[in-house]
Amino acid sequence: MQSVRVLRLDGALNPRSALAIRPLDPEALEGSKGAITMFSVLVTRRLPVAVVTRLEEHCAVEMHRGEVPLSPEELRERLAEKDAVIVLLPDRIDRLALDAATRLKIVANVAVGYDNLDVGHARAKGVVCTNTPDVLTDATADLTWALILDVTRRVSEGDRLARAGNWKGWTFEFMLGSGLQGKQLGIVGGGRIGRAVAVRAAAFGMRVAVASRKDPVWPSSEYMPFDRLLATSDVVSLHVPLSRETRHLIDQPALARMKRTAFLVNTTRGAVVDEAALAWALREHLIAGAALDVFEQEPEFHPDLARLENVVLSPHLGSATRETRTAMADLAVSNVLAVLAGKPPITPIQ
Ligand code: GLV
Repeated sequence: MQSVRVLRLDGALNPRSALAIRPLDPEALEGSKGAITMFSVLVTRRLPVAVVTRLEEHCAVEMHRGEVPLSPEELRERLAEKDAVIVLLPDRIDRLALDAATRLKIVANVAVGYDNLDVGHARAKGVVCTNTPDVLTDATADLTWALILDVTRRVSEGDRLARAGNWKGWTFEFMLGSGLQGKQLGIVGGGRIGRAVAVRAAAFGMRVAVASRKDPVWPSSEYMPFDRLLATSDVVSLHVPLSRETRHLIDQPALARMKRTAFLVNTTRGAVVDEAALAWALREHLIAGAALDVFEQEPEFHPDLARLENVVLSPHLGSATRETRTAMADLAVSNVLAVLAGKPPITPIQ
């Protein structure tokens, strides 16, 4: 038996929820005044309290508090009676999970990338899928620049050396890196994050080339075919979503096309790069270095990468600021509340 409760409308705009960037419109629920079913929502990982409180004002919330993600079986079991689910990247909402969730109306992904969702099957079942674009653009672009600067100026490598007690003092040619001024930053992918990375390039005096399926109109950037961008860029930064077409986009031939002095930076999805091919290219000095925030089988990565000094490894921190993660969770909650109120989602996956 489903619980039958009166949905309180006066809490929809909760003054305590200062973080609510898109509060639920109380009007949207007005039509169903009287006794209506209390919606049941699964949250697969701990989210900020203020954000969850907003959800709890309208729904029965079941939140998985453990550090280890729910197994596919547990996820299916918990989804069975839920009207909505808020998921994180490690959770796979595949065909089996969707088929197990007979009441599900929305899958709200707390990420901009959604390769963890079977969006086609969800659509066929009438389940709305949403993601969290825009709110993480700046944080991810900033992290991309942190990696570009780190790998070209050897910051992490120097940190390791200093901590190991191997710094013998300042010398003229010690740990020389590569300057960025006047060089070319090649951005693969014409979306929001690529653009935000391009905008920041001016501060470092870099020219920007962009390769994308559509010809993006970005200020002060030159559109280039992918192969030419690879062959001419000093830093190649990846900003395409993972799909069948982009899986292993950076493979052996692509790496062999890059300049020997060039750096590869990946802050999108690990599988856009063939990690074994990258380890080979780095061992063979086909490129100068790489900085990676994402990996093919997170949290694992190719063992050679950890042995190479000219690689920066960052544990998927693209959107990892307090402000950004809170905004992402808040947007996911807003999407859930909108859909459960019978309104269009705010950021649907098209
Ligand atoms: C993070 O990787 C995201 O897609 O938001």
